[in-house]
Amino acid sequence: MYKKKPFFIVFEGVEGCGKSFQSKKLFKKLKKNKIDTVLTREPGGTKSSELIRNLILKDYFSKNKLEKFDKYTDTLLYMAARNEHVKNKIKPALLRKKVVICDRFIDSTLAYQVYGKKVDLNFIRNIHKKILDGVRPNIVFVLKVSKKSSKKRLKKRKTRNRYDNFSQSFYDKAQKAFIKIAKNKKNYYVLNSSTNDNSLENEVFKITKKYLKIK
Ligand code: TMP
Repeated sequence: MYKKKPFFIVFEGVEGCGKSFQSKKLFKKLKKNKIDTVLTREPGGTKSSELIRNLILKDYFSKNKLEKFDKYTDTLLYMAARNEHVKNKIKPALLRKKVVICDRFIDSTLAYQVYGKKVDLNFIRNIHKKILDGVRPNIVFVLKVSKKSSKKRLKKRKTRNRYDNFSQSFYDKAQKAFIKIAKNKKNYYVLNSSTNDNSLENEVFKITKKYLKIK
């Protein structure tokens, strides 16, 4: 029998790595096993965080280059969205011993803002100290994707995203950063997501089951 406990699972990776797809798959499988699970995403996840998400994405598509957010404004918006999300959704769900699956979390800020845009790491660390409220992922799945597959997946998308038309070198840098962050960490799993069969979702479920002690 499954014994309820707070459990936080995060999916990370660059655009087109299939993390949203995999988060949904895992969510469905856990639900099928009658495990109380919440599926959410960053930036976003609550009404107010989704509003902030829209601000960030709108800025990206604005034509006026001179009025674009400074990288610190941008970073603070991600953090503001995260603060709302942690306080109003993630933490309450964990307190009720639910499993929370989140599509992106703090490592996206490290990969995109710190490694990608050179935002000061200590600035981010200090804000995280204040806002995370002890919330730490139990498992992080980092999905690694080849250039060819990510491009193919992004082409199929109807709605474009902020970094969907960023240079390939930016993606390469971000992917390298995710892999670097995962290095030597026991609860991080770097998994290849370039193929389109169901081996990846099976692997993700197998790892999760082990942690949750379900058959
Ligand atoms: P999504 O495509 O996974 O919905 O994410 C939206 C964009 O936000 C994506 O391009 C990555 C970016 N992002 C950051 O730059 N920093 C962050 O902290 C987070 C959570 C997302």
